Amino acid sequence: MSARFQVPRGTFDVLPAESAARARVFVAAANAFTRAGYARIETPVFEDTELFARGVGESTDIVQKEMFTFADQGGRELTLRPEATASICRAYVEHGMHKLPQPVKLWAWGPFFRHERPQAGRFRQFHQFDLEAIGTDSPLADAEAIILLDEILRELRVPDLRLRLGSLGSFDARAAYREELRAHLRANEDKLAGDVRERIDANPLRAFDSDHEGTREVMAAAPTMLDRLEGDDAEHFDAVKRLLDGAGVAYELDGTLVRGLDYYTRTVFEFESDALGAQSALGGGGRYDGLVEELGGPPTPAVGWAAGIERILLALGEAPPPEPIDVFIVAPDGQRERALELATTARRAGVCVDLDLADRSHKGQMKQADRSGAQRAVILGEDGSATLRHMETGEQRELDLADIEGEIERERAEDSS
Ligand code: HAM
Repeated sequence: MSARFQVPRGTFDVLPAESAARARVFVAAANAFTRAGYARIETPVFEDTELFARGVGESTDIVQKEMFTFADQGGRELTLRPEATASICRAYVEHGMHKLPQPVKLWAWGPFFRHERPQAGRFRQFHQFDLEAIGTDSPLADAEAIILLDEILRELRVPDLRLRLGSLGSFDARAAYREELRAHLRANEDKLAGDVRERIDANPLRAFDSDHEGTREVMAAAPTMLDRLEGDDAEHFDAVKRLLDGAGVAYELDGTLVRGLDYYTRTVFEFESDALGAQSALGGGGRYDGLVEELGGPPTPAVGWAAGIERILLALGEAPPPEPIDVFIVAPDGQRERALELATTARRAGVCVDLDLADRSHKGQMKQADRSGAQRAVILGEDGSATLRHMETGEQRELDLADIEGEIERERAEDSS
């Protein structure tokens, strides 16, 4: 039978076999955030289109080509969120979080939407976990953010990790550099790709991201912002590097790292894994000292990052098998209600229990018990008796159903001895 309906292009179902691995990523990230004093925030999956146009930047690929935008019944222009930072800054301003002790340290987890060409590691609905420290320009916050992502990726044992680190300087310093870069691009205009040529005025830095051969040659000889860093920007970047050195987090300096969103100032970084193909970025971010003000708040420096959950899972390879349950209850027809009662009591005592819900024969239930990976089976008799069977050894003993709590204690004691 062929399925009449399929998931939309670029999306996927998370099937039970994959959910344990995702849960592991969630727990590692949530624990690391909590240990470092970050609190969780959740924002809507859609926002006013204008928020992203302003926040992410009119000249970015995301805003120009990749947004899922629609008008609602009331004619409002809305967009499925392509990233979290603009929404979180909107919430920061809307809820007056600048009045709280600064910085406000937040994290988020959820689905995001970009109309990109699907390929391995690139989807139209994907998932990120995200960290933002809003309200500080201290390099300590940049370093803390980077160290935390490094810690999470290491705890998950993501192979072949690499950290690229750069700085785009402050807005003013970058304006001068941009002029210099524009001049370099114009001098080599005939060698550039069409889309790069069109963006010389609006967004010359994105030329560093081009795959076009001629453009790459021109960019190899281009000046980088990293070479032009001076004054406070250079000091800030030196401090970030020193703090990462102190924490033992290795990085490669990369003046060509410009990131695909417009709000960055100063520090930018990206974690990559060679275990991934073309889409090698696991997560990235940086400082964005102008965004909160751009969205109507007070001048507020901030730093953050987001990591792609599907990319991390891809880099990790085979998903681990799901956790086996503790006990499978096998029951004859007349004892099925009893079996559910017993399962409920044991579950309330913290035991993982499964049972047949589809009227299988005794043989069918024993097979199911085997497949479930349960260490023990409880086999109910027609007469109301119960036998506890250790699946691996085949050892059996009578179970005292009148004292289930006591029996659970005894089995737990045996497991820990
Ligand atoms: P981003 O680099 O656009 O940054 O996305 C972060 C991560 O999301 C990427 O490194 C990648 O792992 C994952 N990702 C992005 N697009 C896709 C896709 N189409 N399919 C699968 N995974 C994808 C941001 O989103 C910024 N908001 C990060 C940030 C937070 N900067 C400051 N604060």
